[in-house]
Amino acid sequence: MKELLPEIEVRRARRALDDRTVPNEVVQRVLRAGTLAASCFNNQPWRFVVVQDAQTLDAIREHLSRGNYWARRAPLILAVATDEQLDCRNDDGRAYALFDTGMATANLVLQATREGLIAHPIAGFDAIAVREALHVPETYTVITLVIIGYPGDQGHLNEKHRALETSPRARKPEHTVVFFDRFEERDNA
Ligand SMILES: Cc1cc2nc3c(=O)[nH]c(=O)nc-3n(C[C@H](O)[C@H](O)[C@H](O)COP(=O)(O)O)c2cc1C
Repeated sequence: MKELLPEIEVRRARRALDDRTVPNEVVQRVLRAGTLAASCFNNQPWRFVVVQDAQTLDAIREHLSRGNYWARRAPLILAVATDEQLDCRNDDGRAYALFDTGMATANLVLQATREGLIAHPIAGFDAIAVREALHVPETYTVITLVIIGYPGDQGHLNEKHRALETSPRARKPEHTVVFFDRFEERDNA
């Protein structure tokens, strides 16, 4: 294979969402992709709360940060949670719950991309309020909300976000993050 997977190339953190409902079978495939991720000792520490019901969506919308106003339009929000105790913890301090949950989230974001959806993870929300609204136990962290919906028009976006919809990908130069044979501290600025 000479190319990257198309879903990796195509995926962007877009914000111009349509409010059209995502069919159940599509949601099921997206979730299945998440649950097929690798995990330490196959512990599968991820928990996904699918929010589609109008009342629950409203409750979550209240807890989005101001900059995430665009996510209020989403017909589907996936709350991703984990508890450190659900996964490997090594004596040297390595804890894998968040790592494995991130792997699962990446899987489902790529499947959603394949389904023609925008799937945009966000950190800008009140995690404690969301946890409580969704009845997630206190020992869990709601690490991200994945904002999901079909692409829509940009009318509800502010100017900055409208420009970002078509912006080129911004990435650090590869030589500052990829090394061969030995790690090198390089200026990442
Ligand atoms: C953990 C995480 C948190 C993020 N939080 C937000 C957020 O609160 N609001 C937002 O608009 N974008 C958020 N993003 C999207 C990133 O800004 C975006 O992925 C990054 O700028 C790279 O752009 P790209 O995904 O289009 O390649 C988040 C992404 C990740 C993975």
